[in-house]
This record gives sequence, structure tokens and C-alpha cells, in this order.
Amino acid sequence: LLRQVLLNLISNALKYTRRRSCTRIEIAGQETAEEVVCHVRDNGVGFDRRFAHKLFRVFQRLHSATDYEGTGIGLANVRCIIQRHGGRVWAEGTVNEGATFHFSLPKAKGTSDDPS
Ligand SMILES: Nc1ncnc2c1ncn2[C@@H]1O[C@H](COP(=O)(O)OP(=O)(O)O)[C@@H](O)[C@H]1O
Ligand SMILES: [Mg+2]
Repeated sequence: LLRQVLLNLISNALKYTRRRSCTRIEIAGQETAEEVVCHVRDNGVGFDRRFAHKLFRVFQRLHSATDYEGTGIGLANVRCIIQRHGGRVWAEGTVNEGATFHFSLPKAKGTSDDPS
């Protein structure tokens, strides 16, 4: 399922950078004591940040199907999968300046190097 999360986020990054002459996609993660936080960032068309919360709802799309094909369920699946693993998802974007999708996953108890 986590593979599906990355597949959805990377496919979106590729789709929404399609019209850039130079596509840049960054996939990175950081670890804290309690969780791992990853993001997929692109330099594509971006979106209006006022609607960021809508993107994770089923069938909610901010770009027209004629410009960018899609069904609007990818991010709803991402949210569902991450939440079922106890994590959080959120998005940042600016019109014409790209988008970043973040997700966190709690570390399983007993797997931390920290003995406390
Ligand atoms: N990387 C991105 N850059 C800009 N907008 C995005 C990006 N990823 C998702 N979106 C916006 O979020 C909407 C929902 O995404 P998603 O659920 O994956 O559906 P779909 O890919 O079928 O459009 C998209 O229609 C688009 O408006
Ligand atoms: Mg998608």
C-alpha cells in the first residue's frame, strides 16, 4: 500500500510538470524520534493553496480533465492509506510554481534506536 502512495504522488508529479521544459521532482524524507516524514516536490503547474484541503477528497480535481487526464481518486487513496497507518498527509502549492505533498508515518513501537 505504501508503494501505491508513492506511485500516486510520483505519477501526479510527472503529470503536472508535463509542460515544463525542465522537470524537477524531489523525493526526500526526514526522521524524528517518533515518525518519518517524506515529501514529493515538483516544479509543475502547482495549485491554489486555498483549495489544498480539497485535493484529498474523492473526485475533487483542481485541473480540467482536458488539460490533465485523471479521475480524482489518487490522493483520496493516499490519504486513506496513510491514515490507516497512523500518519498524516498535507499539501503545499503555488500556482505555476509547483507543489509539495507530505506524508508522515509513525515509527512502530520497539523499532527505535532510542532506548527511552
Ligand atoms: N503534483 C501536483 N501538482 C498540482 N496539482 C496536483 C498535483 N497532484 C495533485 N494535484 C491536484 O489534485 C487533484 C487530485 O489529485 P488526484 O486525486 O491524484 O487525481 P488526478 O490525478 O486523477 O487528477 C488533481 O486533479 C490536481 O488538481
Ligand atoms: Mg493522480
